Amino acid sequence: MYTLGINAAYHDTSACLVHDGRVLAAAEDERFTRIKHGKRPVPFSAWELPYHAIDYCLAEAGIELADVDHIAYAYDPYLLLDTRGATITLPLEPSAGAQPGLAPWEPLFLAYLVNAERQLVDGVPHRLRARFRGAKTARHWRWHFVEHHLCHEASAFLASPFDECAVMTLDGRGERASTSYGYYAHDDYRRLGQVTLPDSLGLLYEDVTEYLGFLRSSDEYKVMALASFGRPRYVDDFRRIVQTGPGGTYRIEPPRLAERFGPPRKPDSGFAAKHFDIARSLQQVLEETVLELAAWLARETRAPNLCMAGGVALNCVLNGRLRDARIFRDVWVQPAAGDAGTALGAALWIDWQHRARRDYVMDHVYLGPEYRDAEIESFLARGKLRARHVDDVADETAKLLADDKIVGWFQGRMEFGPRALGARSILASPIRPEMQQRLNDIKDREDFCPVAPAVIEERAAEWFVGGGRSPFMLFVFDVAADKADRIPAVRHVDGTARVQTVNRAQHPLYYDLLCAFERRTGVPVLVNTSFNTRGEPIVCTPRDAVECFFTSPLDALVIGSFVLEKEAT
Ligand SMILES: [Fe+2]
Repeated sequence: MYTLGINAAYHDTSACLVHDGRVLAAAEDERFTRIKHGKRPVPFSAWELPYHAIDYCLAEAGIELADVDHIAYAYDPYLLLDTRGATITLPLEPSAGAQPGLAPWEPLFLAYLVNAERQLVDGVPHRLRARFRGAKTARHWRWHFVEHHLCHEASAFLASPFDECAVMTLDGRGERASTSYGYYAHDDYRRLGQVTLPDSLGLLYEDVTEYLGFLRSSDEYKVMALASFGRPRYVDDFRRIVQTGPGGTYRIEPPRLAERFGPPRKPDSGFAAKHFDIARSLQQVLEETVLELAAWLARETRAPNLCMAGGVALNCVLNGRLRDARIFRDVWVQPAAGDAGTALGAALWIDWQHRARRDYVMDHVYLGPEYRDAEIESFLARGKLRARHVDDVADETAKLLADDKIVGWFQGRMEFGPRALGARSILASPIRPEMQQRLNDIKDREDFCPVAPAVIEERAAEWFVGGGRSPFMLFVFDVAADKADRIPAVRHVDGTARVQTVNRAQHPLYYDLLCAFERRTGVPVLVNTSFNTRGEPIVCTPRDAVECFFTSPLDALVIGSFVLEKEAT
């Protein structure tokens, strides 16, 4: 049974294909279209479907769209219609938007969503028509609209390593919810409650992101990074804005940030202490609030473990606090926690509903396209690019890294989710402090953005305090005091690092590279950041990798078994 999950309502458009409980493929559309986040999360772009990601998923399985048994669309527009008592016939006149309680674009947004199935069949780009062609006449799938937060929930508990867990999702917005709670045990799932709009911790974080001069629904991680430099001077303001109530509820007062803190920071202008302090205060109140919600959920479920998804769950400082609070024995965060992951959740949920069994644990994110050496070689030859073929990729790369070269690393299937985890990464040595600055120059990023370490899993506890398994770079750890001066490039200003642990089963070549680097330097740690430059999606194809390599100050590119190096200047 093939189940195709699609996320398209807002941004981070994506597709995921599940076959009898196994995830065959999952990818964000941005990697193919090269438009960051696929599109902006605005109502008039809701019609755009992730055709390229769908096409890739079908190709990976060797099937056509007509062969799919279920299509799970990760948003349910009928929830919005039902709650307003509207009929299924939508008002299509823009003037209908003037109705009280209905935003001007909402009728158009809803019209796009209820017609998504028609759009999927009729709107396919000409170039991709081959795998979609038969769907007009031969389709037999059942179409499902699945509630947005149920998708986030399913993406967590149906992918987690737990048989019993509490579930918490936190994001900007779904149809009605912004936060939801559930309990999964013994192959049964119950929704326990939700917080509805306009109250949303995710939207508050987005508001502050925009106020601080960044791109909302995109640059929230920069606010988190900024927070480490600030003091919690405005924590009382944010405590007045966020008020928790009984039963896992909270309310958000309109933040009126400009009234409270003065005019917003202009993009590309400098930072004042106030900006760091606002970020720090927001982050602290977010952490306090989520810890309180988690404590309520633990009492309510008595579950030993917690799993999470939703864009807020990408906040690895928050996740570290949750882990350290020991409210739950273990906390697992689904790595594609943002909206891209709802395609995974939608597909897993529908598969589970129809097969009544679970066959999947998400122990890696390498669910995207892969390119064999023969394809890479012919691409390089066609471009008349000079490359060395190497037999020992790990050792040759370790040598470059030990020589302080910054390397584009393109190996195996691309990652699903926002983090590069050793398949499409920029790698460097963590041993010299100036490496962080060099990497931020390459990526054209702000200086305050930290870069993160990848570490051999067995060595993690020696180098990072409490360093257990952390394969998805979603938790911060303190750098061990006796190791801090050996890996200065990955140590953030607050002494922490956002760690990825790597074991052999996950990605053998990446693991071998870390081992080879340790043999040369005594350090089982590399700097790992995503293989892209500012504003660009992470590279997907050899062409993307080569273009990024030649248009940035990268020193070398290791792509499959081939090494390209620039002349030293
Ligand atoms: Fe979401």
